[in-house]
Amino acid sequence: GGSLNATFYAGTCPNASAMVRTIVQQAFQSDSRIGASLIRLHFHDCFVLGCDASILLDNSGSIISEKNAGPNANSARGFNVVDNIKTALENACPGVVSCTDVLALASQASVSLSGGPSWTVDLGRRDTLTANQAGANSSIPSPTQGLSNITSKFSAVGLNTNDLVALSGAHTFGRATCGVFSNRLFNFSGKGNPDPTLNTTLLSTLQELCPQKGRGSGSTNLDLSTPDAFDNNYFTNLQSNNGLLQSDQELFSTTGSATIAIVTSFASNQTLFFQAFAQSMINMGNISPLTGSSGEIRLDCKKTNGSG
Ligand code: HEM
Ligand SMILES: *[C@@H]1O[C@H](CO)[C@@H](O)[C@H](O)[C@H]1NC(C)=O
Ligand SMILES: *[C@@H]1O[C@H](CO)[C@@H](O)[C@H](O)[C@H]1NC(C)=O
Ligand SMILES: *[C@@H]1O[C@H](CO)[C@@H](O)[C@H](O)[C@H]1NC(C)=O
Repeated sequence: GGSLNATFYAGTCPNASAMVRTIVQQAFQSDSRIGASLIRLHFHDCFVLGCDASILLDNSGSIISEKNAGPNANSARGFNVVDNIKTALENACPGVVSCTDVLALASQASVSLSGGPSWTVDLGRRDTLTANQAGANSSIPSPTQGLSNITSKFSAVGLNTNDLVALSGAHTFGRATCGVFSNRLFNFSGKGNPDPTLNTTLLSTLQELCPQKGRGSGSTNLDLSTPDAFDNNYFTNLQSNNGLLQSDQELFSTTGSATIAIVTSFASNQTLFFQAFAQSMINMGNISPLTGSSGEIRLDCKKTNGSG
C-alpha cells in the first residue's frame, strides 16, 4: 500500500466507508449502471498522473477539464453521485476525505454491491490542483489500439499483464456505445469483412443496433450474459467470441498471447478472478498518489479550493 493505509480516516472520519456505501446503494435504486460508471471514473482518474481526482475538475480559468478528453466526453458519468457522496462527507467530517479517496471507496462499494469481491481500500490520497486533458487523451487505453499498445499503457503506470486481464474483468458490468465497437461490424481493419473473432449471433444484433450508415446512437451491455452482475461471465463470454470491444476479445483471441491462459483461468474459477481483481484494484489505486502535504483536500470535487 505504499504510503496509503486502510485506517487513514479512523480518527477523523470513521464512518467514511459506510457512508459511501450507503449513497452508492441508494444510487443503484434509480440507476442500475451507476456502479460501473463509478469504477470507470476511478480507472480514468488513476491512469492520468495518478489517482488524484484530476478527472473531477470542471473547466475554469486554469483548468482544461479531463471530462472533455476523448475517452471521457459523452461517456464518463456518475459525477453527480460523487458530488452527493462528497456533500455527505463534508457534513459529517468537514475538509477530511479527499475526492480521490471517494472514487476508490465508491469503486469498492460498487463491485461489492453488484456481487463481486470486497477488499480493504487503502486511503490517504490527496487531490490535485491541476488537470491534464492531453494526458487523458494519450494515457487512457483505447479499445481499437491493439493489445500490445494497451499492455504498454498499463506497464507505463506499473500494472502488469495479470492486472490488465483482471481489471478488464470490470467489463462484467456497464454499457458501451456503438462508436467504440462499430469498427468491428462491417469493414474491420479495412479488410472488407467484420471482425472474424466476433460471434456471428452477436454480430447480427450489433449490426442492427449500429448500422453502417449513421452508426446509430445505441448502447449495449459489455457483458451480454449477466449485464449488471459482477461475476466471471466476462471471461466465459470471451471463450465464445462474445467480447464486445476489440480490446476485450483480443485478450483471448490474440495468438500466442500470455493473456489467454489468464482468461482461461478466470473463466473456470470465479474465486481466482475475484482475488486477482481485488489485488489489481489495490494496485491501480496505488498509482502515484499525492500524500503528505502535496495537493489538497478539495471541498468541492469539481474545483480546487483556491478557485472560489
Ligand atoms: C483494458 C483497457 C480498457 C479499455 C480499452 C476500455 C475501454 C472502454 C470503453 C470504450 C468503454 C465504453 C465507453 C462508452 O461507450 O461510453 C468502457 C466502459 C467501461 N469500462 Fe473500460 N476499458 C478498459 C479497462 C477498464 C478498466 C481497467 C476498468 C475498471 C477497473 C474499466 C471499467 C469500465 C466500466 C465499468 C465500463 C462501463 C461504464 C458505464 O457503464 O458507465 N475499463 N471501457
Ligand atoms: C483531447 O481530445 C479531444 C477529443 O478528441 C480534443 O477535443 C482535445 O482538443 C484534446 N485535448 C488536448 C489537450 O490535446
Ligand atoms: C499502436 O500505437 C502506435 C502509436 O500510436 C500506432 O502507430 C499503431 O498503429 C498502434 N497499433 C495498432 C495495432 O493500432
Ligand atoms: C474497407 O476499408 C478499406 C480501407 O479503408 C477500403 O479500401 C475498402 O474499400 C473498404 N471495403 C468495403 C467493403 O467497404
